[in-house]
Amino acid sequence: MTTSPSQLRLSASAAARIMPRIEELAAISESPNGLTRRFASVEHRRANNLVANWMADAGMSTREDAIGNIIGRYEAHNDGSVGNTDSEGNNKAKAIMLGSHLDTVIDAGRFDGMLGIVSALACVETLHENNVRLPYAVEIIGFADEEGVRYQSTFLGSRAVSGEFNPSVLDRIDADGISFVDALKTFGQDAARIPKAKRMPEELLAYIELHIEQGPVLEVESQAVGMVTGIAGATRLNITLDGLAGHAGTVPMGLRRDALAAAALCISLVEQQCTGHAGLVGTVGRIQAEPGAGNVIPGSAQFSVDVRAQDDTLRLAKVDALLSDMTALCEQRNIAITVDRMHDASTVSCSDVLLDTMKQALLAENVKPISMPSGAGHDAAAMAAITPIGMLFVRCKGGVSHHPDESVTEADAILGANVLMRTVQNMCGLIT
Ligand code: GLV
Ligand code: MN
Ligand code: MN
Repeated sequence: MTTSPSQLRLSASAAARIMPRIEELAAISESPNGLTRRFASVEHRRANNLVANWMADAGMSTREDAIGNIIGRYEAHNDGSVGNTDSEGNNKAKAIMLGSHLDTVIDAGRFDGMLGIVSALACVETLHENNVRLPYAVEIIGFADEEGVRYQSTFLGSRAVSGEFNPSVLDRIDADGISFVDALKTFGQDAARIPKAKRMPEELLAYIELHIEQGPVLEVESQAVGMVTGIAGATRLNITLDGLAGHAGTVPMGLRRDALAAAALCISLVEQQCTGHAGLVGTVGRIQAEPGAGNVIPGSAQFSVDVRAQDDTLRLAKVDALLSDMTALCEQRNIAITVDRMHDASTVSCSDVLLDTMKQALLAENVKPISMPSGAGHDAAAMAAITPIGMLFVRCKGGVSHHPDESVTEADAILGANVLMRTVQNMCGLIT
């Protein structure tokens, strides 16, 4: 094996595999129409197995950790030049970790998450095909759950790796009544071992995630790839309103305790509180009413609230204000309100050193180095607790994401992977 060469670009064969692999992963879906792949599902198992095979073909050793993250490691060269061998000559190099997530939202696009994994594979395949080892190991991780669809807590995979797994998730039940612990067991892992998924800061040089932008900035700027300065903080709530069900024809309007009518007013409060502040956004994406018949006054309603901002103080103040307005509104209507705080994540900054490294890589690929904050959450936000993080965004058509129309061109995907390839190689000289 040779040592670190002058800059390699993606091999033609590795570049050509990016889009077919996106299609292969998109075909692994819980629903026959469209793409849905939730944490610890049969389809998650199939996706992990497929990615593990690709990793092995790229010369990586593979393993799955206790939360169901699939991990491949392409070992460093072990000439001891950066202290990567122990006293017995065993390789113990730090890793540059690349990756993203393999779970999806319901009826998802095919690039969100998957693009970061197949791009990272193209980089390692290129190293392998060229018989090149770097001074650092390169690991690729396919995180088990970033979207939080099944158990309503995002970053299950990356928070297990960063040591910040929230144990309250262990008690959660999914929409089909399956407990988190049982789902993981059926998947082939043991929830009791989740602490073992944690990685130590000294094992990692950095985590870099390539992801579709999920917004319109790069398209407007006519650039295929950009870099991320930081990731917005987020709060997710589940709210339950309990009133009294009754006959839709007999109970006068003034005597009702209609939970769904109260929910409708609460939802407009979300819009009111979150409008007019730069960078603050609020969304209610899910609502359910019971008993759910056209001629019955709804006795109970549940809805989600998702609030995000780059400014944590603003986000937390707005969530407090929102909850106090909702509580007052429910009091007036004699409706009981229960708030479950499912997820809180602070804003994180990307590493300045990595931003500079990515800037050099973008310039070398003749891309104008545009930087932007990410309003979407990413596994990188959790990984920031244990290692410097960097993120590259790849342009997507119309800024559309979390939707089956999500679209990235092959040329942009290959360019993004080439920027990642250069970033990894540049890092070998820059960060210790
Ligand atoms: C994940 O995609 C999120 O930002 O919700
Ligand atoms: Mn997503
Ligand atoms: Mn994503």
